[in-house]
Amino acid sequence: MNRIIITLAAVLISLSCAAAPSDPTENLLPKPTSVTPGKGSYKLPATPLKVKVSGPDAAALDTLLASYGFQPVTKGKADVTVSYGSTDSEAYTLKVTSRGLEIKSEGAPGAFYGVQTLRQMLDSGLDSWPCMVISDAPRFPYRGVMFDVSRHFRTVDFIKKQIDAMTRLKMNNLHLHFTDAAGWRMPVESYPKLNTQAAWRPQTKWSDWVAAGTPYATEGQPGIYGGYYTKDELHDLIDYAAARHIRIIPEIEMPGHSEEVVAAYPEVSCSGIGSDLCPGKEATFTMLQAILDEVIDIFPSELIHIGGDEASKSAWHTCPDCQRRMQEEGLSDVDELQSYLIKRIERYVNSKGRRIVGWDEILEGGVAPDATVMSWRGVKGGHQAMAEGHDVVMTPVGYCYIDYCQDAPFTQPVSIGGYTPLGRVYSFEPADSTLSDAQLSHLLGVQANLWTEQVTTDEHAEYMYYPRTYAIAEIGWSPAAKDYDDFHRRALVMNSLLDSLGYHVFDLANEYGERPESLTPVTHLALGAPVTYATPYNSKYPAQGATTLTDGILGGWTYGDNRWQGWLTDIDLTVDLGRVQPLHMLSAAFMHSPGAWVHLPKNVVYEVSTDGVNFEKAGEAWCDVADDYQSIMMKPYTVPVDTEARYVRLRAKANDRPGAWLFLDEIIVN
Ligand code: ACM
Ligand code: ZN
Repeated sequence: MNRIIITLAAVLISLSCAAAPSDPTENLLPKPTSVTPGKGSYKLPATPLKVKVSGPDAAALDTLLASYGFQPVTKGKADVTVSYGSTDSEAYTLKVTSRGLEIKSEGAPGAFYGVQTLRQMLDSGLDSWPCMVISDAPRFPYRGVMFDVSRHFRTVDFIKKQIDAMTRLKMNNLHLHFTDAAGWRMPVESYPKLNTQAAWRPQTKWSDWVAAGTPYATEGQPGIYGGYYTKDELHDLIDYAAARHIRIIPEIEMPGHSEEVVAAYPEVSCSGIGSDLCPGKEATFTMLQAILDEVIDIFPSELIHIGGDEASKSAWHTCPDCQRRMQEEGLSDVDELQSYLIKRIERYVNSKGRRIVGWDEILEGGVAPDATVMSWRGVKGGHQAMAEGHDVVMTPVGYCYIDYCQDAPFTQPVSIGGYTPLGRVYSFEPADSTLSDAQLSHLLGVQANLWTEQVTTDEHAEYMYYPRTYAIAEIGWSPAAKDYDDFHRRALVMNSLLDSLGYHVFDLANEYGERPESLTPVTHLALGAPVTYATPYNSKYPAQGATTLTDGILGGWTYGDNRWQGWLTDIDLTVDLGRVQPLHMLSAAFMHSPGAWVHLPKNVVYEVSTDGVNFEKAGEAWCDVADDYQSIMMKPYTVPVDTEARYVRLRAKANDRPGAWLFLDEIIVN
């Protein structure tokens, strides 16, 4: 009798808790904080899963659940229960028991993220899940993506589609770069020419517009490009994002990057032209405050982005209004004049119950007291701001700028330059070990920025966002420990999912990778030889200093990798091989990266000498790359020789383009 009961019990247990074939959490991206295995397993019922929600405004979550393919129920037995409280907590637990699934949070955002985890678990396709408890919470409160809708306009539908992807990745901030030289996209009633003129241009492609001398057009003219959002569209977008616990942060650029404003309203500039607004004129503040009133009216975001980056400030030195302002306010330089503008704008924004966020240039001349800082020119600005008690979003150019190339440039569409593959983005650690606890308390999180100078189409934009946005999501949400192989595996799964949903993702499975020549050191006769620089390298790009060009280490796809040495002049160098010896080949590769104004030398002349005094020409190599070739490439300037010498002199003649960079990684002698 006992044996029969035990056997029956075992059969029942095995029916309800069959051994799980695999783990539905193994592809979760971002990776959750912790997964604790339980006993037994849960056999998933037929879809749609019935979900019962209890919490404030449960109907809103029901609507989303229905759109995700669940069946919201209010009565009877549910397969999934979701319950949450009234805080803004993003933490949640998701329990898999043999009886069902249970998501709990103290807040609606946490419940929502629990649902996103559940969706990813269902994507595993497994119909029997091991019992477990997922306990999850974000590492950082800010996980953002920036959309540059000025350089190329993006529709509300496109942005909503990206919000859907952000949702899966548990991201919560969408920063819209609404205004820049290439087009003003924010609806403004008080200054209508921002919409009827500053929003339009004759050329669709940004690069064609620049080549044509950056002309503007008037709304309604045939064949023009551009546009601006309507208030209704923005309200719709804000609501769509808010339902998914995503805040939209609007950016209105000031005082730089404002050519389109100056073109429409020259009276707010120093002299009627240029990129900067005039901080000396009251008209500038009248305008900015009126615009901010309208922005604040539309956007509920506490943070309002006021730009602040890359103002040239050059006209301010001589503008009588700027000079008068500096005198009256006791400002000692133009940095303090910019700071005056930002601080005054901050007071205005604060008076409306909001707070400003700006790029890290707002630190120059004294940062506004309550400002949040986006650290983009590396991490230093962010570290300084945190030390001064300011909240910081880390978005350093070398890791988080996803307008940079994500694979070998010759395999990629034209980009702004650089090389920031998925692995590079993933390697970013915002909580630098040098930061104190006090500083870390101000580290809000991370953001990916997609500037769109070279990104004309929606497809191209998605290609740049995915998969690199996954890395930002994972850095922002998951525990700090890193495992790139595992992340890469999960990124491939996420890529397949987004691809199946109609996103145009980068083909990560067939990534070419870093410049092959840079992966293994080269051996040649000049290895370790001293180099004399008749033309010093530029202090911005010293690479490894005087040993760079003979260290056997070739550069990668980007000049920013500390392997490429840079010049803004012609180059004249001499390598001392230590003794006279037979030479057969002289070579040096230069970089071509026109988007970053890096151009090949016109020619390279090699000379040789036995005594270091008397040199004779050994050969010359010319640039044979077409002037308008847009992709990044490395071009070796190589000459065969048949001589004996101790000294090799390289002279490279810079390209005719004013201010163009020359980059060189090694002088190879064989
Ligand atoms: C920036 O990239 N100028 C913020
Ligand atoms: Zn001025």
